[in-house]
Amino acid sequence: MFRIYNLRVTDVSSPNPPLELLEVAKIIENELALRLEDLNLPQNLAEAAKYAVMNGGKRVRPALTLLCCEAVGGSRKQAMPAAIAVEFIHCFSLVHDDLPAIDDDDLRRGKPTLHIKVGEAMAVLAGDLLLSVAFSQLISEQYSTAQQATLTKILANATSDMVIGQVYDTIGGLPKQLDKHQQLEEIHRNKTGALIQSACEMGAICGGASKDALNAISTFGRANGLMFQIVDDLIDLHGSPEHVGKATGKDEEAGKTTYPGTIGVEASKLAVQELQKQAKSALDLLENDAETLLSFNLWMAHRTR
Ligand code: IPE
Ligand code: IPE
Ligand code: MG
Ligand code: MG
Ligand code: MG
Repeated sequence: MFRIYNLRVTDVSSPNPPLELLEVAKIIENELALRLEDLNLPQNLAEAAKYAVMNGGKRVRPALTLLCCEAVGGSRKQAMPAAIAVEFIHCFSLVHDDLPAIDDDDLRRGKPTLHIKVGEAMAVLAGDLLLSVAFSQLISEQYSTAQQATLTKILANATSDMVIGQVYDTIGGLPKQLDKHQQLEEIHRNKTGALIQSACEMGAICGGASKDALNAISTFGRANGLMFQIVDDLIDLHGSPEHVGKATGKDEEAGKTTYPGTIGVEASKLAVQELQKQAKSALDLLENDAETLLSFNLWMAHRTR
């Protein structure tokens, strides 16, 4: 307890997650590499998929899946296939997000983006591949048929919400009745919040959560997911590409709808704090100890990359 408390106090200003979470990320990385090797792909596609996945991501979403499973009384192992699935979807979303037709970015996770490395056609196709193999991870012997169906529904809905969010963010089409602030929230909840929420919910499903525990995790994930994109907007504004590993200062240049651009930097930081508190309160409703998950959530609010 004291150690975790200590972690929280000392690590909130650190760019790196608490040590225990770096260890979780390492376990996830090993599994991601194994699952990619299993795919039996032509070499060029295999290399492109590997480049898109095994390139230094923080592994926030799969770590949430593992920790949410644990927070409802399950084991991290039980949540692994779902964790791999959500990270494959996330990597696919980044590859397509970086394409010239969308955000047109050259740098991702400190390296040239996939389309810079292998060309646009392969980047589109490697993204398509990751989208489809994500779902095959859920057909795992570790899960009952009912769990497989629930996980598939959660991940499919979140993926289509992400695509809707990307359309709002890039092309438009938001419901007309929404005011400026509601539009902003709608973009962020869809493009980023939904997948993060699904990562949390899938963890709870893998852990056999009760209805109440699933609701608590869902509320946690919803608050945490919106918070994550507000922090991403702040990092775009204040971070350096060397530290962050991707281009910064681009949202304003591209005329993106962001929290700091719409409500200001201070109000955005307050929104982050408020959402972090909401996430924490949701975890208070769980019967099990969720200290690790909470320390992760706190780091997510303070991260600088
Ligand atoms: C970046 O996500 C894209 C967003 C949805 C904000 P991450 O910040 O989790 O990116 P990686 O996976 O660590 O590179
Ligand atoms: C990305 O949002 C959301 C996705 C669905 C990938 P951003 O466009 O802000 O993500 P970064 O800043 O490029 O990582
Ligand atoms: Mg984008
Ligand atoms: Mg982008
Ligand atoms: Mg961004």
